[in-house]
Amino acid sequence: MLKTIRYAAFGLIALLSAGWGVVWFTDGDLGKLRLENLGAAIPGGVTVGGPVALTDTKGATVTEATFRGRWMLVYFGYTYCPDVCPTELQTISVALDKLGPAGKPIVPIFITIDPERDTQAALAEYVKLFDDRLVGLTGTKEQIAAAAKSYRVYYAKTTPKDASAYLMDHSSFIYLLGPDGTLRTLFRQGVGAQELADSLKSRLSAGS
Ligand code: NI
Repeated sequence: MLKTIRYAAFGLIALLSAGWGVVWFTDGDLGKLRLENLGAAIPGGVTVGGPVALTDTKGATVTEATFRGRWMLVYFGYTYCPDVCPTELQTISVALDKLGPAGKPIVPIFITIDPERDTQAALAEYVKLFDDRLVGLTGTKEQIAAAAKSYRVYYAKTTPKDASAYLMDHSSFIYLLGPDGTLRTLFRQGVGAQELADSLKSRLSAGS
């Protein structure tokens, strides 16, 4: 499982650094965006993020405009994830704690790529385990597919041998979007909480 996710993440990195990203990243103009500590850049002419229509854990509709004016830390995953998602969500929570009041402009968002199991109720329970600030978003299969496509998120259902429940392979990046809703950077899987906090702090104070 972990291995598969690593392959998926590595796949994205490989795509980016090899310039094959054009296959995946096809439109818009993002310029040279540095991936934190990856040494890779998203190819020019690429957009990440855009219109989404999802539902929060209280049933309210959330679009790309909902959090305009605030910084967004977005992570895609699923509540049944045995390893990576809990680690990354914990990192986000600890980083926000480290920032203290300086982190107030940031809204952490968890978008499920497993809407079949991650209902509003299931997500509400799950996000509470990590952080009261964490916003859980789900939607129809189509809405999730559209959001994932917009953020270039890879995900696929997989059923390990002898397993009773399915798992989801998925790419794992933490996306930082600015108050204007544009992508500012991606943080790789495994980024440390202090490193994340430091980067957020300098980006927020620089406004970029
Ligand atoms: Ni996961």
